[in-house]
Order: sequence, then C-alpha cells, then structure tokens
Amino acid sequence: MGRGGCTVWFTGLSGSGKSTLSEAVAQALRAEGRAVELLDGDEVRTHLSKGLGFSAEDRNINVRRIGFVAKLLARNGVIAITAAISPYRAVRDEVRAEVLASGAGFIEVFMRCPIPVLAERDVKGLYRKALAGEIPHFTGVSDPYEEPLHPEVIVDSSTDSVADGLARVLAAVRAGAAL
Ligand code: ADX
Repeated sequence: MGRGGCTVWFTGLSGSGKSTLSEAVAQALRAEGRAVELLDGDEVRTHLSKGLGFSAEDRNINVRRIGFVAKLLARNGVIAITAAISPYRAVRDEVRAEVLASGAGFIEVFMRCPIPVLAERDVKGLYRKALAGEIPHFTGVSDPYEEPLHPEVIVDSSTDSVADGLARVLAAVRAGAAL
C-alpha cells in the first residue's frame, strides 16, 4: 500500500452508520501503521463548528470547514476520514475538487439506509420527533438530502454488514493510495 494521503468522505443520513463504519476503517488502517485522523460530525460540532445550526448555510460552512482540515491532513500523507451528513452535493463536490487539487486522493462513501429502517433504529430518538413534526429541517424528513451521483463506495447499512462495508472501503482506499 502506498503512503499517499487521502480523504475518505462519508455522507449519509443521521443514524445511517457513518460513525460506526468510519471508526472501523480508522482502526483497520491504524493497525496497518497508517496515520489516520477521524473528523466525526458530532465531535466537530462541539469544537470546530460550535455554534453552527442546521440551516443550509450553516451546514455548508460546517462541511467546508471539515473539508479544509481534511485537505490539510491528506496532503501531508494522513488518511483523513470524515463523517458528517454533508447533505448538499455541490459543496461535497467542491471539497472533492479542493482535496484532489492538493494532490491527495478523495473517496466518497455513501451510507445508504431507508428512512423506515432509520426510524425503527432511532438510536438518538430524533426520527420519532422529526416524523412527529417536532424538528424542523431534519435531514431526510423535513430537510433535503442530495444523494451522491458517483460515490466511490456505496454501503447500505440496512443490508450490508460492517465487515462488508469495511472491506469495500479498504479496497477503495488501497486503490486510491497506490496512486
Ligand atoms: S451536517 O448536515 O452539517 O453535515 P452533521 O453531521 O454535522 O450535519 O450533524 C448531524 C447530527 O446532528 C445528527 O446526527 C443529529 O444527531 C444532529 N442533528 C440535530 N438537528 C439536526 C437536523 N435538523 N438535521 C440533521 N441532524 C440533526
């Protein structure tokens, strides 16, 4: 495996499995001796993006900040893994272009999961509230989510195991890192 840096950009609805799979990917790559940094959406919002809300404008600021940090890391040989909903295609594509322009690789991982499955899981209890109309602008329910058109990897967490997803993401990272 090469030592080139890259950004592994997870995108998908809340509860779709971005954090779980991104942590598994981080752990596997660290075990191979790679330098890995994980920028998780919830954690970023308590530090780097503290104070931002969920309007389209604030989400795009959040996503651009995450993209900026990921680019700095990736161009220095780190595998920067990000896990934010990042609902808007145009800003994701903007980040992709910036990371690629820095000489690092970019792998978009779309975590797909149907809303009924997310509502059934509802780990944070947010879908119940959103579906009851209590959370305005909740992604996938009362706010848009724009699916990626050409993601490098698609994982459907309602049908694929974490091990399946992990294998597919690692294969894509290896292919990208060999460049
Ligand atoms: S993003 O749209 O800006 O990329 P981000 O991943 O940082 O979102 O934060 C999403 C998390 O914030 C969700 O997992 C959920 O716990 C919480 N959250 C609170 N309000 C909302 C909302 N209106 N829409 C989506 N997620 C929300």
